[in-house]
Amino acid sequence: MSCSRHLTTHCFNRTHPIPLSFLPARGTPRRSAPSGVMTDPTARLRALVENGVAKRFDLRAWSAQSGCARARAIERLETLLEQARPDVIKLIVMESLQGTPESDLDVMVYGECAPRAFLEFINAHARTLALERAEEGDDTRRRAASGTASTRATLTYYDLGSGAGKSVLTAALSPYFARCRGIELLPCVHAIAEILVEDFSRDVAPRDDGVSPSVSVSLGDIFVDLSWIDADFVFCNCVTWDEATMARLASHAAEMRRGSLFVTALCPLPSDAFEVVAEDEIDFSWGRVDAIVHRKT
Ligand SMILES: C[S@@+](CC[C@H](N)C(=O)[O-])C[C@H]1O[C@@H](n2cnc3c(N)ncnc32)[C@H](O)[C@@H]1O
Repeated sequence: MSCSRHLTTHCFNRTHPIPLSFLPARGTPRRSAPSGVMTDPTARLRALVENGVAKRFDLRAWSAQSGCARARAIERLETLLEQARPDVIKLIVMESLQGTPESDLDVMVYGECAPRAFLEFINAHARTLALERAEEGDDTRRRAASGTASTRATLTYYDLGSGAGKSVLTAALSPYFARCRGIELLPCVHAIAEILVEDFSRDVAPRDDGVSPSVSVSLGDIFVDLSWIDADFVFCNCVTWDEATMARLASHAAEMRRGSLFVTALCPLPSDAFEVVAEDEIDFSWGRVDAIVHRKT
């Protein structure tokens, strides 16, 4: 395996000033796009936002009409995420980078996990990890592993570069996680994630085992905010990241606890501190890609 598997050589790992707030004020009446919207990126983006992108979707009202109020949690999540389409988020990223020093980035590569496939994937690997952690002798975890569904959740999940937060919300439906966190560099997509997290608590939780896990996203740089090092299960959708960035990521990841899992998309972590335990091809918004599961040795 090598990073020759990269789809592109661009990465998003630089901090950049993006002063735009993409959050519409609650209750702001919709208005038509201002003139010049196709040439002025800010106006175009604002028109998108003011006309529905990233707005609160009233899942409860929609569910009542469509008769799926009692749908499974994954179905409620998929309904919630319908409002935040990957292609629109990709456009928002493109617009936000226009006129910044990062405008040369290949922003077309913005992509996301596909919730249903991703949930199946993380459940399979988190289950093994939860059992291992229980066998390590931690009393709380041992009790949890032998307990009921509602007490099984003990693990902490992190998404590094969490975008609109879809993997964080998906992990929150896995019975093995008690805490699901995301860290995202771009304010524009982080703003969408914050709304979705809020709506998740209101409209999707609790998950099917009756548990409402702790879910949060924060705006930051994963190379500065290193809170993720204590996580049990880390995901990084790093398809577009270059070798230097991957090496930097791997050097921090080497601080993680023994047995912890680190999943990358497409490219493996260049590190001797991990062994690759699985490579599962799963669906992402851009198609099927290898999700590489590393275990900290
Ligand atoms: C391909 S998207 C993945 C989104 C999400 N993880 C998913 O799979 O649904 C990668 C994200 O990583 C973010 N990112 C890149 N470098 C970062 C850094 N140093 N700190 C935090 N986020 C970063 C990008 O802004 C982008 O939103």
